Amino acid sequence: MNKLQEVKEKGYVTADLDQEKNLVEEIARLKKEKNAVILAHYYQQEEIQDIADYIGDSLGLAQEAAKTNADVILFAGVHFMGETAKILNPTKKVIIPDLNAGCSLADSAPTDKFEAFLKQYPNHTVISYINCSAEIKALSDIICTSSNAVKIVDSLPKDEKIIFAPDINLGKYVAKKTGRDLVLWDGSCEVHVEISADKLKFLQGKYPNAELIAHPECQEAILNEADFVGSTTALLKYVEESNVQEFIVATEVGIIHKMKQAVPHKKLIPAPAVTNNTCACSECPYMKLNTLEKIHASLEHLQPEIFVEETIRLKALKSVNRMLEMSN
Ligand code: 13P
Ligand code: SF4
Repeated sequence: MNKLQEVKEKGYVTADLDQEKNLVEEIARLKKEKNAVILAHYYQQEEIQDIADYIGDSLGLAQEAAKTNADVILFAGVHFMGETAKILNPTKKVIIPDLNAGCSLADSAPTDKFEAFLKQYPNHTVISYINCSAEIKALSDIICTSSNAVKIVDSLPKDEKIIFAPDINLGKYVAKKTGRDLVLWDGSCEVHVEISADKLKFLQGKYPNAELIAHPECQEAILNEADFVGSTTALLKYVEESNVQEFIVATEVGIIHKMKQAVPHKKLIPAPAVTNNTCACSECPYMKLNTLEKIHASLEHLQPEIFVEETIRLKALKSVNRMLEMSN
């Protein structure tokens, strides 16, 4: 099957690997041959984090994508992250290992409904969380991530009317932190809202010395209980710098890998989801679609490629660049 057809049918490509050859070494060889860089989010599988050139949160990854000299960016993350890299790098090839790696939060803001929503609130500044499509970015004035949302809202004049989208939990958190009255879009991340407040209470009883640290995509009841709230990078930094020895970590379990490397002597307890799951943790099914095999195939064939229509890209670039300028 031709590779473009394979992408159309499956959303990813496959490649033959000589049994004698080592997958990790082959990825390194292809990376050099194609002058490619691998950017990975903390929610990626451990073996992907271990071969990445850069691992970070959404802000760090966008900043890294903005400054890379590579010809090819392989984004080991989800679709909107690849799109952001393409918005910043129209002349580079941006590939992701599996086009099926979407995001429930990005999907919670369809363009037509969002456009209609904006019409109800004229004269509002639109701040959108980076977890949204290129089309939503194009309809926004400023993009933010969980590490700079409070700072960005705070930097606007007190009387400015603001729409905050698409994550309602982050929106409520930012409204509380800044004391602003924000118009909120009702979207959410299926992974973070599945984290069970009841199961967390049980864990807090079992580990009375543990601090609860949470990502702001979690529900309000959890954020109100948390000792610290922050982006994935901020959570990692917090466990590194704190004198506390035990943490219950309320975000996707992938972050535990870097935390374990940074503080091997500390106890890190992943937060469980409401539904019974095999890992007793919270896993993003989209992030976990990426594998070393798909990364290898993707580098070999430079597929699946991310494209953003030029008029959308230029509008989205304005709002992404505003965020990058405000985050320096
Ligand atoms: P950050 O890495 O920016 O904290 O975002 C978390 C997330 O859910 C990414 O999809
Ligand atoms: Fe989207 Fe949530 Fe997965 Fe992040 S963890 S990619 S917000 S579904």
